[in-house]
Amino acid sequence: MKRTIVLGIIAAILGIACGVKKSTNASVSTGFTSEQLKQAETRFPGVNSAELAEGKKLYESRCSSCHELPHAERMSQSRWNHEYAAMKGKAQLNFAEDRLVNAYVSGILVP
Ligand code: HEC
Repeated sequence: MKRTIVLGIIAAILGIACGVKKSTNASVSTGFTSEQLKQAETRFPGVNSAELAEGKKLYESRCSSCHELPHAERMSQSRWNHEYAAMKGKAQLNFAEDRLVNAYVSGILVP
């Protein structure tokens, strides 16, 4: 009887520990939620979270030099396409940078 209780407590503690570990892993190691990654992957198949992090850096540095950082997270895909088309030349992103910025942004756009 005692043994069952002790084992039960150990199992509960392990369960809590694993649960906590899981949730910190999801946000700390990548910085992106699985929903954001999935959303980015629909337009950029195979893109990984390291690339999204690169894209985020580029977006934040290159799209805030002339004005405040735009709120891409409040834009739809078509709105973003429209704004980006006008700004692409101004930001002078090369082919690889263009892909990274768009991969990152596609993950944060309004679904
Ligand atoms: C070289 C300067 C420069 C850079 C770099 C730049 N922009 Fe702009 N942006 C402007 C100017 C000037 C305007 C306002 C006039 C216009 O629309 O052309 C503007 C306007 C905007 C607007 C419209 C704001 C509104 O009130 O409607 C958005 C959105 C935007 N930029 C997004 C971006 C994004 C995304 C990037 C990075 C890819 C970027 N910009 C990089 C100069 C820049």
